Amino acid sequence: MTSAQVAVIRTTARRESIALGIAFALNAAVVVLAYVLVMGGTAVSVWLTPRPRPAYHERVFAKPAQEQIAAGVAEHGRDIFRTICAACHGPSGYGVQGLGRDLVHSDFVADLDDAALVAFLEQGRPADHPLNQTKVTMPPKGGNPALTAEDLKSVASFVRGMQDPRRMPELAPWAPKPVQVTQADKDAALAAAGGDAELAGYIASGNKIFHSVCVACHGQGGVGISGNGKPLVNNPFVQSLDDDGLLAFVKQGRAPSDPKNTTGIQMPPKGGNPAMSDDDILDVISYVRTLQPAKSVTQAGK
Ligand code: HEC
Ligand code: HEC
Repeated sequence: MTSAQVAVIRTTARRESIALGIAFALNAAVVVLAYVLVMGGTAVSVWLTPRPRPAYHERVFAKPAQEQIAAGVAEHGRDIFRTICAACHGPSGYGVQGLGRDLVHSDFVADLDDAALVAFLEQGRPADHPLNQTKVTMPPKGGNPALTAEDLKSVASFVRGMQDPRRMPELAPWAPKPVQVTQADKDAALAAAGGDAELAGYIASGNKIFHSVCVACHGQGGVGISGNGKPLVNNPFVQSLDDDGLLAFVKQGRAPSDPKNTTGIQMPPKGGNPAMSDDDILDVISYVRTLQPAKSVTQAGK
């Protein structure tokens, strides 16, 4: 091979590698361009597609405001909502993660007329109901069978007012009502306390608080609600802790992420009622002790 021939081969090789480099660069450019076009196109089309307004918005706000809810009705409804529904739906109805859904933006609520909404509240929605998305039970009457038809109408009106603030009247500041313990409550508690009058006082008050705050999830008499709170009757966890331990537990609750959580459902701090004092909770604990076999009742008291 002459040196001239070698030079020709070298130049050709260099030309080829330059051509290859250009081809590579072009290829990469095309790929990047295609990527930009596709992603940009998607972004633009997402941006251009009209976002569907929530149905509740059409039904509630597209119409002229309906009549104002009477202040007395709204206040009564709010008191029920705060004591019973708020544990699962939050104090302002925006829902609680892992518990009750957002009611303020609920299409389901916006779709129902007043009578159908009241009928829904009467029935609730079990965890295995086809419409149930959370797999958590919404108990009939929010778990409080004492609610009357009038109470349910008021709370339904309050939910309407939460959806459409234009209809909500000025409300007096809210304060939880102190529990009313009747003579019958005291008599029952005295029997459960084995004649100890001081303990009977705690139990009677705890029974009342339990059946307003804890009942929604743990059921009447603490028998539990399937798809929600565990039974507290003859409960090994309750028996394993002293009063201070139980007080700490109830104040903290048990998140679904807690390794001890077996249901995947949240036990909210203070049962979702931040207004409860330590004394209130200790009263509830005295009551819960009466749901255990006889020997554990003697641990009750403060
Ligand atoms: C123990 C917890 C709990 C309590 C207490 C409770 N709810 Fe619910 N509620 C739920 C759960 C959970 C759902 C959602 C079930 C599902 O996934 O469909 C629900 C759903 C609803 C819905 C239907 C919402 C929708 O968009 O489908 C309404 C309305 C409602 N609750 C109103 C109330 C009212 C009013 C009260 C008080 C009287 C109340 N709830 C008390 C747990 C509760
Ligand atoms: C919004 C629903 C809800 C309310 C209200 C509620 N709980 Fe619970 N609670 C639960 C759930 C759900 C669990 C079970 C969590 C788990 O899987 O470990 C639970 C668990 C418990 C446990 C532990 C039981 C065990 O075997 O591990 C105790 C004790 C308890 N709750 C007491 C109370 C008391 C007392 C109140 C009222 C002050 C109350 N709860 C209110 C939902 C609730």
